[in-house]
Amino acid sequence: MLAFVLVSGSLWILLELSSTLMEKMQAQEMISGLRIPEMDDISQFFLSLPTSTLVGIGALTAVLTYWLATRPRPIKPPCSLQHQSEEVPHEGGGRRSMMGDRTKLLTHYHDDATTMYEVFQRGLRISGDGPCLGSRLPNQPYKWISYKEVMARAEHLGSGLLHQGCKPNPNQFIGVFAQNRPEWIISELACYTYSMVVVPLYDTLGPDAIRFIINTADISTVICDKVEKAQVLLENVERKETPGLKRIILMDAFDSALEERGRSYVGEDKMGLPPAPDDLSIVCFTSGTTGNPKGVMLSHGNVIADFAGFLKVTDKVIFPNQDDCLISFLPLAHMFERLIEAVVYCHGGRIGFYQGDIRLLPDDMKALRPTIFPVVPRLLNRMYDKIFSQANSQWKRWLLNFAAKRKGAEVSCGVIRNDSIWDKIFFSRIQNSLGGRLRMIITGAAPTSPSVLGFLRAALGCQVYEAYGQTECTAGCTYTTPGDWTTGHVGAPLPCNLIKLVDVPEKNYFASKGEGEVCVKGPNVFKGYLKDPERTAETLDPDGWLHTGDIGKWLPNGTLKIIDRKKHIFKLAQGEYISPEKIENIYIRSEPVAQLYVHGDSLQSCLVGIVVPDPEVMPEWAKKKGILGTYKDLCKNTELKKAIIDDLVRLGKASGLHSFEQVKNIYIHSEMFSIENGLLTPTLKAKRPELKEYFKDKIEQLYSSISM
Ligand SMILES: *[C@@H]1O[C@H](CO)[C@@H](O)[C@H](O)[C@H]1NC(C)=O
Ligand SMILES: *[C@@H]1O[C@H](CO)[C@@H](O)[C@H](O)[C@H]1NC(C)=O
Repeated sequence: MLAFVLVSGSLWILLELSSTLMEKMQAQEMISGLRIPEMDDISQFFLSLPTSTLVGIGALTAVLTYWLATRPRPIKPPCSLQHQSEEVPHEGGGRRSMMGDRTKLLTHYHDDATTMYEVFQRGLRISGDGPCLGSRLPNQPYKWISYKEVMARAEHLGSGLLHQGCKPNPNQFIGVFAQNRPEWIISELACYTYSMVVVPLYDTLGPDAIRFIINTADISTVICDKVEKAQVLLENVERKETPGLKRIILMDAFDSALEERGRSYVGEDKMGLPPAPDDLSIVCFTSGTTGNPKGVMLSHGNVIADFAGFLKVTDKVIFPNQDDCLISFLPLAHMFERLIEAVVYCHGGRIGFYQGDIRLLPDDMKALRPTIFPVVPRLLNRMYDKIFSQANSQWKRWLLNFAAKRKGAEVSCGVIRNDSIWDKIFFSRIQNSLGGRLRMIITGAAPTSPSVLGFLRAALGCQVYEAYGQTECTAGCTYTTPGDWTTGHVGAPLPCNLIKLVDVPEKNYFASKGEGEVCVKGPNVFKGYLKDPERTAETLDPDGWLHTGDIGKWLPNGTLKIIDRKKHIFKLAQGEYISPEKIENIYIRSEPVAQLYVHGDSLQSCLVGIVVPDPEVMPEWAKKKGILGTYKDLCKNTELKKAIIDDLVRLGKASGLHSFEQVKNIYIHSEMFSIENGLLTPTLKAKRPELKEYFKDKIEQLYSSISM
């Protein structure tokens, strides 16, 4: 097919024409509700024509028939895309979703699933003995544990915990310290079965934070996956730094010891003491950029409300079901991942865990063939870079861009599909490399670049949603409206919460102009930080609004755009206010740039930056500018540095930055900022104080080079 397109100019034009025609008809269909005649009507029409005409229009018929057979159907949006949210009276300008009951916020979706315990019970009822949780050993197929077995193991484990002295009530906190694996979900469910509360622990918190959490949450029992993790905890115990910690349970030994004992007790505990919706379900400690971690307290009702919001928005297009399969690799310690997994098991679907090594994820995806893929933008960026780096000639890139553009035109008419001619020629390989069955990708945790999102929506041929939120509102508070495949915003409020913007006068944002700090209110908003009334009061106001610290802007069609952060603001020496994150959000669109940190302070009159170029994109980008070399060499090349500064300043100008908001010099760093090297938080946000300290010398050099 490819060769044919290349040699035959006329077919090229034909394809061009037919897709333009298609767009026009598509648009017409959407605007006036006009239906294009179905296949049958068309063939009736042809049958009534004399044969001579038929021969003449044979070629056209072939094209038309092909097009009709593969005619794309747009996703029908659940509300007008020009009007995705509306203001509610008496809520200080708060806006709500156009979906669900207008008079009250959504608290739950299924009447028989009002706690996380009931969510699982529902899946169990639907699926019976169907597969629930799966894992695999290297180069082997997935092995599945059934719903019944998961429930039984959770009951045994929970009962075992009770007989170790844990109390079946929401004041009992149980630590879970493990990578994603079936036992994580079993442990969680064991807690819920007896109304106990889960407290996730994870490596990247670091030993100090883990000690702080164990003491703050009075954790007496931690369920651990590996001996090494138990060792970390034991060292604290030996140093008498965590006096309350009494028991460490290793997952690998589950069946033999504790579950066995639990099994014999289960009768006595009458098959569990499940929680009520108002009971606490989980305390998620989030490490901020400064200070001790904060324990976000979420009730079952909080989680269920957010879960319901997501289901409501997508309920006309997604229909989660028993055939769904999710690949689990984002840390289960994060609510975003756990919420989407809950959606899958509430409807009897399956969750397959990765082997624990992110490099083997592609192999796991091929073995699992998931339909639902929760991701973070970093991974989408990598996919995007990889696809383009494999197109290793100018010509191939041009073709790829061309195909993406044609397909993108369909996407912007609301059509999502994987069987167009462009998929057959270009994209099916990419789709198959992800297992070939994906129907939904959900990204959250950080902003996704519009060009990456736009390209992947076209290339992957499945629905790609973006969520925005934070743990304090369980996970999401806004979400892409199905059918709105435009980029540059984070969607509309979920039906479980209101969103309002509040004046931030010191940064010149005013709600009257549709800009301000994003505040969230609704049943998905948390109960406060554990034992931290002071920071709770800073975040949750007396009227129940959660103040997120993000600056948002309402777009005319009722979607929200995140434009800045409230904190991290400083004055330059000449008195101008600078918001580095706003500038970084603009600069990050520069093609060769993977990460950057913009620095300034009140002693300086200009800004400087630390830039990490993208190893897979930058060398090619440099080559186009006539600068050659390996990644490492290029990072030291002053010509390249100059080219990158020019590109940043160009983007800044185009986005309306003042000249004092532009960087005057940059340092090129060749190692990514990461969680491991302490420069990113576990939610992938830049740790600004650490970055400043880490690059102290480089920053001084940058300033001295400017003043010279
Ligand atoms: C194409 O999309 C359909 C519907 O979403 C899905 O069932 C099918 O598996 C997809 N095929 C590939 C190759 O992704
Ligand atoms: C909503 O508005 C924004 C900004 O005006 C625009 O970029 C986007 O395309 C709009 N979305 C739809 C679906 O019209």
